[in-house]
Order: sequence, then C-alpha cells, then structure tokens
Amino acid sequence: MSLLIRGGTVVNADRRLRADVYCENGKIIAVGENLDAPAGAETVDAGGQYVMPGGIDPHTHMQLPFMGTVASEDFYTGTAAGFAGGTTMIIDFVIPNPQQSLMEAYRDWRGWAEKSAGDYSFHVAVTWWDESVSKDMKTLVEEEGVNSFKHFMAYKDAIMATDETIYHSFKRALELGAIVTAHAENGEMVYQLQKELLAKGITGPEGHPLSRPPKVEGEAAHRVIKFAEVIGVPVYLVHVSTADALGHIERARAEGSRVFGEVLAGHLMIDDSVYKNPDWEFAAAHVMSPPFRPKHHQDALWRGLQSGSLQTTATDHCCFCYDQKSMGKDDFTQIPNGTGGVEDRLAVLWTNGVGTGRLTPEEFVAATSANAAKIFNIYPRKGTIVEGADADIVVWDPAASKTISVKTHHQKVDFNIFEGMKVTGLASHTISQGKLVYAKGDLRAEKGAGRYIKRPAFHPMFEALKKRAESTA
Ligand code: URP
Ligand code: ZN
Ligand code: ZN
Repeated sequence: MSLLIRGGTVVNADRRLRADVYCENGKIIAVGENLDAPAGAETVDAGGQYVMPGGIDPHTHMQLPFMGTVASEDFYTGTAAGFAGGTTMIIDFVIPNPQQSLMEAYRDWRGWAEKSAGDYSFHVAVTWWDESVSKDMKTLVEEEGVNSFKHFMAYKDAIMATDETIYHSFKRALELGAIVTAHAENGEMVYQLQKELLAKGITGPEGHPLSRPPKVEGEAAHRVIKFAEVIGVPVYLVHVSTADALGHIERARAEGSRVFGEVLAGHLMIDDSVYKNPDWEFAAAHVMSPPFRPKHHQDALWRGLQSGSLQTTATDHCCFCYDQKSMGKDDFTQIPNGTGGVEDRLAVLWTNGVGTGRLTPEEFVAATSANAAKIFNIYPRKGTIVEGADADIVVWDPAASKTISVKTHHQKVDFNIFEGMKVTGLASHTISQGKLVYAKGDLRAEKGAGRYIKRPAFHPMFEALKKRAESTA
C-alpha cells in the first residue's frame, strides 16, 4: 500500500517546507521535492494546501459508561468522525469504578476499542487506592504501555479521587515514570453547592454553572499542582476552563515546575449564556464539566495557548443524545455531563486561531498534535511529518469553508455545540496508517483498523526532574 501526497506545503511544529510526502506500509518513507511515485501508488494532489500531522485528540470518552447511561459515540463512530475532521488518533480514558481492579477495567476498555477505525491509546484513572491499585499501575506501565494516570477531583460518591488517593497515586506514578493528569474541580464544593441550589428550587441547567463556579476549579488546580510539586511528578491539567486555573499553571511554570495544561475547543469558543437559554434541551445539551464560562475566560485561555502556558487542545468528546440528557429533566445534577467535538476541533481551531492571527500554522500543529505527542511520549512516531513516522496525515485546504451543523456532521449525537459556526480551513484528505480514510467528503473508515498505541514511561523530563531534585537537595 503506497501513497504519494504531491505538491503541498508540509507544516510541522518547527518549520514548513514545500515537499511531497511518500508513504508505504503505514509509514512515511520520504519527505522531499519532486518525489517519484512507484507504479500503482495512489496520489493525492495537495496543490495550494497544507500537509500536516493528523490531529491527536488527547481527551475523549467514547462509549463511556457515566451517570447512569453510556456515551452515544463508540470507538468506531468516534474515530471515523475524527477522520472527517483531520484527527487520526485519540487518547481515551479507562475509568474503573471505585473498588474495581484497574486491570479489569483496562481489559474492558481495550475490548470496546477493538472496533476503532483510528489509532488510540489510554490514560487510566485512579479512582481509589490500595496495594492492588499500586501493583496494577506497575503492570500497566511496564507491560501495557500506559504512561499517564488520571485523577478526577470532582464527581463525589462516584469516581472522585480523595487527597489520600491522589497522594499515593502521584508517588507511585513518579516511581514508575508516568505523568499524572487531573480534572481539577473541588468535588466537595460542587456537591454542597448542588444541594443548596436544589433546596432553593433551582433544578434546571442554569444551576449547573452555579454549582461549579470558576474558583471551584481554581482551588483544585492549585491543590493538585502543589501535590505534584511536593511529590516531584509532572502534572497535566485537563480541560482548563478558567483564568483562575490558568493563573496557577502560569505561576507554577514560572517557578520551574513541570505543569502542563490542556484547553478544549469548546471552552475557547462558547460562553455560559448557553445555560440561560429558555429551551431546556439546548441548555442541557451544553451541560459538561467544567461548564462553559463567562466570556473573559475565553480571552485568557486564548492567551494561555498563544503564550505556551497551555500546550494542547482537546475536545473531551463525550456525547449524550437528548433522550439521555432528559434523565435530568427535573434535577440538573442528573443531566449526563458531556459534549462532543472530535470532528470539529481542527476546523474550529484553525478558523479562530490561524484565521485570526492568534496562531501560526506551525503553532496550530503544536497545539493539535505535536505537543500531545511530546507530553505523552509518542513523538516522533506521531505528531510530525518526518521519515519513519506513522503516516497519519491531514491535507488541509485553507480556503475551503462550511457551516458546522448536526445535519451534516458524522458524530453520533443529535446536537452540535458549534452549530451554525462558519469555519474556513478544512481537511480535504485524511490519511491513517498510510491509507486514505477521508477524501473530499468520502469517509472510508474501516471498523477495527485502528491500533492500540503503547506509550513508553520515563519521558526524558523524568531525568531532568531527578537531576533537579538532586541538585537542590
Ligand atoms: O462533562 C464532562 N467533561 N464529561 C466527561 C467526564 C469528564 O469530566 O471529563
Ligand atoms: Zn473531566
Ligand atoms: Zn473528560
């Protein structure tokens, strides 16, 4: 299977060059001018277009069992929808129930993901603690290629990790050379605020952001950063949505800490007015955590991305249809939390980032694939177009435009949070493992073609951390 992408401008995070890209057997074999294609090779004409690494979405939840239901998008439909928008890899989450063995949960998720069309990997959540969890973390790192462990500081009485769990898990992750990640919201505060709001008769979606004000995120962001600093482990904050949390990340980084931040396309673009919409279904469709925020937070998040304080962009793709959202018709705390976007992230980011001059195309590549690949230690296999890398590529037409709509999207959900947004800059072709999986509207995703991608532990930053600890001891 060979493919030549001809006549485009290759854009990596560090530079751009006029080059053809030749792929064979799933790998990039050559990047250079005027390459010849062997007989039988398929050819993509990329004239006037950018040729970039396929998007890596480091935060998705396909088929997640959550809040009494299961996310509507499965690993096949979700990765296929990603292809239609230029995303070629996801990092999803194994989330064990409290007291469930990590290995058992991991095997469940591996089974569900077998139908994936695109490559995938897993962060594993640590939701409780005992010696078996410690042992399973070692197995996951050493045998299964897991190098990141997630901690939910919210969702009390469900998957929330206590400070005790966080402490032990962070120590263990450091020993094993794995990075820790966190959903930063103070779950106790959320729980108490939810009770107070319901007691006052506030039962609709407007209660959701009131129960999760920005400082609730700020407190948890600060706490988890301090945990990581005390223990000396690198930490990655998922879905940073407030100026408050961003400020804690900026201060920690300025002080030399290894702290990383992810921002969602949704949080960059959508504000909290959605919860005041009188249409219950519309407001409930936007219920996700952390919630969409007042507008000034969006400006801060864009600045965070531009300055490099936030390194990655994601979607937290976790779809629930209207009939599922209606589980919370009389009580906003029962509305399944989650929204979609795996198909739209690149176009939304390009339009509102590159299209406005906030980001260069190279910075776009950093924020949509290269930085995630670096932080989660799969670079340069993923996240760059160089000889020897996986042939996961998007051919990007900067002049193509469309209006995002649930009527035309490929995502398996009956709502789109970006509905009506005009985007300019679209994937014309997507290549996964050297094969054309999307070509000008023709989606050719193949069920089960995606591979589980192992991510090695002991990222070089662990050596740096060790040296730093020794030199300051
Ligand atoms: O509302 C959300 N984000 N649902 C998915 C679980 C999580 O918190 O990431
Ligand atoms: Zn979360
Ligand atoms: Zn999530």
